Amino acid sequence: MGYIIALAGKGGTGKTTIAALIVRALKEKKLGSILAIDADPNSNLGDVLGVKQADNIGAIIDNISAAPEQLPAGMTKERFIQHQVQAAIQEEEGFDLLSMGKPEGPGCYCYVNNVLRGLMIKLINDYDYIIVDNEAGLEHLSRRTCRCADILVVVSDATSVGLKSAKKIIELTKALKFEFKKSRLLVNRFNENIQKERIKETGLEYLGSLPVDSGVEQLSLLGKSVFDLKSDAPILKSLNLLGEQIWKRN
Ligand SMILES: Nc1ncnc2c1ncn2[C@@H]1O[C@H](COP(=O)(O)OP(=O)(O)O)[C@@H](O)[C@H]1O
Ligand SMILES: [Mg+2]
Repeated sequence: MGYIIALAGKGGTGKTTIAALIVRALKEKKLGSILAIDADPNSNLGDVLGVKQADNIGAIIDNISAAPEQLPAGMTKERFIQHQVQAAIQEEEGFDLLSMGKPEGPGCYCYVNNVLRGLMIKLINDYDYIIVDNEAGLEHLSRRTCRCADILVVVSDATSVGLKSAKKIIELTKALKFEFKKSRLLVNRFNENIQKERIKETGLEYLGSLPVDSGVEQLSLLGKSVFDLKSDAPILKSLNLLGEQIWKRN
């Protein structure tokens, strides 16, 4: 059964970076097979993981919606979608990547979304670990992926405004009845002047923090992947210290 680690948080807080760093950590620890899911249509998890991307699910939906009757001979629509999704999974060394993208065309995607949801559930069981990098507004998540995770990591910066939005996100997940076995707050770019009472006010259990890391800044400036980060980078050390709380199965 796949162990699902979902990341959420306001844009720019570091979700994608942290998702990619978790993939790197799990890969290095050889804890099992890994599927990274880029569920943010405006995101770049693939870039941060150093993957040259091809297809995404949004494009597949567009193609099928544009020509719904053009199925290969002898293939049902459901089987065809399944085949396309399988082909869209990028197989990398030590992990696979699936990008959700977003359909651009008009039309109703209910049927395809239903098939996809079923497929995702099956797919999730094919891997030991699934890391889902979500877009800031979690509402969209529900349509094509499952609404569940073993752990939801809400990423925030150390600012008061940032922590307030972490609180809003967790309230939203409750209102939408997402099923997270546990949810935790992770403060990225920690600053020691952080207001401790704001952490409490989020209502989230505090997981810990990650420091500002100039190596991470360099990676994005140079367009490099997390695998180019030196293994003694402060952010990796901190993440490994928190790691058990994130990826240890109970
Ligand atoms: N701890 C950190 N130290 C330095 N730079 C960081 C850190 N975390 C994130 N960044 C940088 O901040 C920017 C936004 O991070 P990103 O992971 O894309 O955020 P999100 O996915 O939440 O929008 C990126 O350029 C990233 O390299
Ligand atoms: Mg992102």
